[in-house]
Amino acid sequence: MIFDTHAHYDDEAFDEDRDVVLTLLKDANVASVVNVGASMESSKRALELSKQYDFVYCAVGVHPSETTDLTESDYEWLCNHVHENKVVAVGEIGLDYYWDTPEREHQKEWFIKQLHLAIQEEKPVIIHSRDAAADTLEIMKEAKEYAKSLNKSFTGVIHCFSYSVEMAREYVKMGFYLGVGGVVTFKNAKMIKEVVKEIPMEFIVLETDCPYLAPEPNRGTRNDSSNLKYVINMIADIKNLTPKEIIEQTEINAKTLYGIA
Ligand code: NI
Repeated sequence: MIFDTHAHYDDEAFDEDRDVVLTLLKDANVASVVNVGASMESSKRALELSKQYDFVYCAVGVHPSETTDLTESDYEWLCNHVHENKVVAVGEIGLDYYWDTPEREHQKEWFIKQLHLAIQEEKPVIIHSRDAAADTLEIMKEAKEYAKSLNKSFTGVIHCFSYSVEMAREYVKMGFYLGVGGVVTFKNAKMIKEVVKEIPMEFIVLETDCPYLAPEPNRGTRNDSSNLKYVINMIADIKNLTPKEIIEQTEINAKTLYGIA
């Protein structure tokens, strides 16, 4: 069954029909969803959703572009809720130099702080990195050392992977997974197709990032996990495998990544 490792069903785009969309996912062969927090508010909503639906898990964390007004009491909330039953990761956290706000030092500070929280609590991380390849890798390597010094594990997923094959190999070497979604179906997306071709299937997980990034032929419309079939078909094409094989392997990968039995 299909595992969507990265969705935002708490988004207001689903306010009118959230329950209908989520309930229909089973008919689309979608068995599990991780609803990812991107701000304090959405982390709280993600946690609520995971309590309402048995097949929905969640991650709590703050996206780099949402770190401007973060306070110590927000950080404390994250520390206090990361242990809850259905919280499977810290995220999404990282660096965004495309929007490039707040200033980079501020983004880095909160990225590192949340990485350390995940390491201390041995939770996987969901990394958002846009136009920030070098700084992200450097911080991730430092975090790996930090984890080693504490004798703790450090794993996670680079969500919506958008960098080169060389960069993909660096993360795979560190034991990280690569999140592949709608972008792989776009005609001009040469780099991610190359990454999917070169990186072993054991390191790839499926994601929607819905309501964003709907795959072809639905590009530009509101995305949801039922669209993953188009992503699966494209990966199957690139890998010369069947869609069934893609679904099975990515489900195993996702469960290993998030520690779900
Ligand atoms: Ni996202």
